[in-house]
Amino acid sequence: MTANPNSHSGNSRGAISIRNVSKVYDPGGVNVRAVDDCSLEIAGGEVCMIVGPSGCGKTTLLNAIAGFHSISEGQIDLDGEMLCGPSKPLADQGADRVVVFQNGALFPWKTLAENVAYGPVVQGVLGKNEAREKAIHMLDEAGLSGVADKYPGEVSSGMARRAEIVRALINDPKVLLLDEPYRAMDALTKSIMHESLLEVYDRTKVTIFFITHDLEEAIFLGDRVIVMTTRPAKTKKIVDVKISRPRDYRLLSSEEFRVLVEETKEAVHEEAVKAFEAGERELA
Ligand SMILES: Nc1ncnc2c1ncn2[C@@H]1O[C@H](COP(=O)(O)OP(=O)(O)O)[C@@H](O)[C@H]1O
Ligand SMILES: [Mg+2]
Repeated sequence: MTANPNSHSGNSRGAISIRNVSKVYDPGGVNVRAVDDCSLEIAGGEVCMIVGPSGCGKTTLLNAIAGFHSISEGQIDLDGEMLCGPSKPLADQGADRVVVFQNGALFPWKTLAENVAYGPVVQGVLGKNEAREKAIHMLDEAGLSGVADKYPGEVSSGMARRAEIVRALINDPKVLLLDEPYRAMDALTKSIMHESLLEVYDRTKVTIFFITHDLEEAIFLGDRVIVMTTRPAKTKKIVDVKISRPRDYRLLSSEEFRVLVEETKEAVHEEAVKAFEAGERELA
């Protein structure tokens, strides 16, 4: 499986290679195969969107890349170096891969600037003043300079979410792992989030592994959309989004966009029906 050659501007860092990965959970001695023989090559600087029925194994795959869970079979490499594999099923957690969760994780008792500056200070990468300076600069780039000294509870959820992305990027990671980060948001806030994420992406060209159930979001943001099968997850279909960047909202009403959304929807729907028939609790 090859990466989309049009998708990234020659970024040589952040390439993820997932080869024949399986994951079996064993709650109470009952095997649950969440991922099965899944292979996927993600190029450095690619925006790779993952869609598929709820419960199919998307988060399991993300957790394996992040080092939160071990894998049962196969291997995952980052830039040619093994993260996890047969001899070492659990990847180390490292600053080269950062995760942004669905429910947000800013410290409520710290200002946005303090939240952003926290990581590099704790890790001893930057001194307190340097970290604050960098945090303020990055918040400014993300259009958040006016709220840098506010607490998360004092800003909108959209601003808090943007600050979280800034926080994730302060250590210049190779890979940004996002698990349905905008799931609970209304359409308008979501669209602002998309624009701001794309701005960040255009600036940093960080590799993005982004799980979503929103197919328009997947096509709008992605270089490729990976449709996963119903559990156990493997890749069912790869949709190449050959739409140039920078992208803006006029794209949403274009014919090429609609065609890609429909193509993706068909594949996801097929799998969602299978998941439903297999008795999964919820559909994507
Ligand atoms: N820690 C766990 N122990 C046992 N089963 C789990 C665990 N985490 C997830 N699963 C099961 O693995 C399957 C895939 O889960 P998940 O990766 O969270 O799916 P998705 O993110 O696609 O909704 C589901 O059937 C889920 O119930
Ligand atoms: Mg999930």
